[in-house]
Amino acid sequence: MHIRNLRPSDYQRIISVLNEWWGGRRMSDMLPKLFFVHFTTTSFVAEENGSIVGFIVGFLSQSKPEEAYIHFCGVHPDSRKRGIARELYGQFFRSVRAKGCQLVRCVTSTVNKTSIAFHIALGFQVEPGDARIDGMAYHSDYDGPGEHRVLFIKSIQENT
Ligand SMILES: CC(C)(COP(=O)(O)OP(=O)(O)OC[C@H]1O[C@@H](n2cnc3c(N)ncnc32)[C@H](O)[C@@H]1OP(=O)(O)O)[C@@H](O)C(=O)NCCC(=O)NCCS
Repeated sequence: MHIRNLRPSDYQRIISVLNEWWGGRRMSDMLPKLFFVHFTTTSFVAEENGSIVGFIVGFLSQSKPEEAYIHFCGVHPDSRKRGIARELYGQFFRSVRAKGCQLVRCVTSTVNKTSIAFHIALGFQVEPGDARIDGMAYHSDYDGPGEHRVLFIKSIQENT
């Protein structure tokens, strides 16, 4: 597997499989081309034999220079549970740490149990919220009515 920076030319290949990789959920509207143009230094793809098997899209916070945010990460369904997302997160942590970042945030839908398990496995903490599901705090209506989100935070000060 080879990890490289995201490129504008990756847009079509990734957007065409995005909803499928998310189990049929409509996600493509949330990843417009601008992310493939303006966030390439902190976004990466994993390639195997010329095919994209995973990607991560993240950026440094404009408002909080010591913080970074992971917007999207996906791995091909046939390539899961091989550590590809863990590698992509590691690459992202190194790239933003080199730019002075100490904290990484991301949010995930309360329905995405795989994503919740993945982030906890990677050492993210769940931020306090206003409600709980299966004992886990979340922010109700965070991204609009009925769009509940679990908020994750992780310190990347030491080697992670
Ligand atoms: C979430 C996702 C990115 C994980 O990718 P992956 O490459 O399979 O994850 P990794 O192999 O790096 O797993 C890292 C850890 O996460 C945990 N994990 C991964 N998938 C899991 C699952 N389905 N259930 C429970 N734990 C899981 C494992 O504990 C693993 O730790 P281990 O290596 O010690 O076993 C992948 O399932 C995916 O693309 N899902 C659809 C898109 C999505 O929901 N993305 C969410 C982030 S925006």
